[in-house]
Amino acid sequence: MKTTIEPFKIKSVEPIRFTTAEQRAALIREAYYNPFFLKSEDVLIDFLTDSGTTAMSAKQWSGIMDGDEAYAGSRSYFRFEDAVRDLTGFKHIIPTHQGRAAEKILFSVVGGAGNIIPNNTHFDTTRANVEYSGAEAVDLLNEIGKKPEVIADFKGNMDVESLERLIQERGAEHIPLIMITVTNNSGGGQPVSMANIREVRRVCDRYNIPLFIDACRFAENAYFIKLREPEFAQKSVREIAREMFSYADGCTMSAKKDGMVNTGGFLAMNNDDWAAKSKNILIITEGFTTYGGLARRDLEAIAQGLEEVLDENYLNYRIRSTEYFGKKLTEAGVPLLLPTGGHAIYLDARRFAPHIPPEQFPGQAVVCEIYRIAGIRSVEIGSLMFGKTAENGQHIAPPMELVRLAIPRRVYTQSHIDYCIEAIVEAYEKRNDLRGMKLIYEAPYLRHFTAHLEYV
Ligand code: F0G
Repeated sequence: MKTTIEPFKIKSVEPIRFTTAEQRAALIREAYYNPFFLKSEDVLIDFLTDSGTTAMSAKQWSGIMDGDEAYAGSRSYFRFEDAVRDLTGFKHIIPTHQGRAAEKILFSVVGGAGNIIPNNTHFDTTRANVEYSGAEAVDLLNEIGKKPEVIADFKGNMDVESLERLIQERGAEHIPLIMITVTNNSGGGQPVSMANIREVRRVCDRYNIPLFIDACRFAENAYFIKLREPEFAQKSVREIAREMFSYADGCTMSAKKDGMVNTGGFLAMNNDDWAAKSKNILIITEGFTTYGGLARRDLEAIAQGLEEVLDENYLNYRIRSTEYFGKKLTEAGVPLLLPTGGHAIYLDARRFAPHIPPEQFPGQAVVCEIYRIAGIRSVEIGSLMFGKTAENGQHIAPPMELVRLAIPRRVYTQSHIDYCIEAIVEAYEKRNDLRGMKLIYEAPYLRHFTAHLEYV
């Protein structure tokens, strides 16, 4: 086997700015130990997110020049609608400015007090939009998915037994829809198998509940199905993706991930009544139905991006380079969530810094240290993002304390990754020096975005 290479050549480059460790120690302190407050100029390698950070292709940029900026009935909208419908098969295709706008609209229509939305794992904005509507967001990840050290093929799968128990206990009439997130971002970028999607579909049929897919990383999920579910080894990723969508009644999508664009998203569904309500909310909050909060040129870029993301040379490089990153770290003894997922590496902060208890945010301590050492920006997915405080003031920790290094699509080369491996190994070697942290400010929703912290 030869080295897997980047399946593109670089036409346009962007310099990155070097800083010293002393400068970075001051910069992260001034940012209240929250990487969301760092200026991107002060970041050397930015793994904060793979969302909207994609390098677009020459074809996408030329599509942008060719965009038809008409308010209504734009040619670019129809190209986008065709691309989404060809992939998903859904009847109503509703553009939004990003994924959470699709979630906000969907849960405004189907959420509300007394309702429950089950998901393998809600992403934080999905959970926030469900809860903001008054409904309850329930995560039903299978047990293996909660064990970062266990290697398994489909750690994103939904626990179907728990799903059925929830429906029987709480009543199907209180569950307007069931959601599956592919890949399971908050659970480590882990894929969901086609077998699991089919099983969930059977439960949906039994209780007459619609199924929606949170499709942000559908192509990466489809590629994992091809690699890991023998039935699909000979199928094209496009066929696999189409089959995934065929079991669903609708989807939300942040095109900032597998749409390969810098902004955009959509809500798609078959239900006429829900679609009519959604389009009304869209017009009030986002824009007319043929642009939904986007410039029409953005729709061109999404249409093209949905083609490019299904290129199997691209997906092979994408999944292999994430795997390479994870393999080198594992060889150096760094504890990771395994196997590596599609879009990111997740350090296991419970094992990285076992001397820091969850209420002192071990993940955030690691995030700050790898920034200080090497200018790498990452994000905590643990007690800071998902922790809760009980009435007696006790900290309720989520099942895992992770640090996510999300890899932008087509942006960094293998030597960038090698540099990051060296830096993380260095942080791991000095792990006993890591100190716990405490919150000095938190907002009521999605607190990690704006939290202020300091060392204990
Ligand atoms: N669902 C999942 C699974 C996501 O990962 C995201 C975004 C969204 C929904 C919301 O989409 O940002 O376009 O509004 N995830 C980004 C991330 C922010 O960094 O993982 P959005």
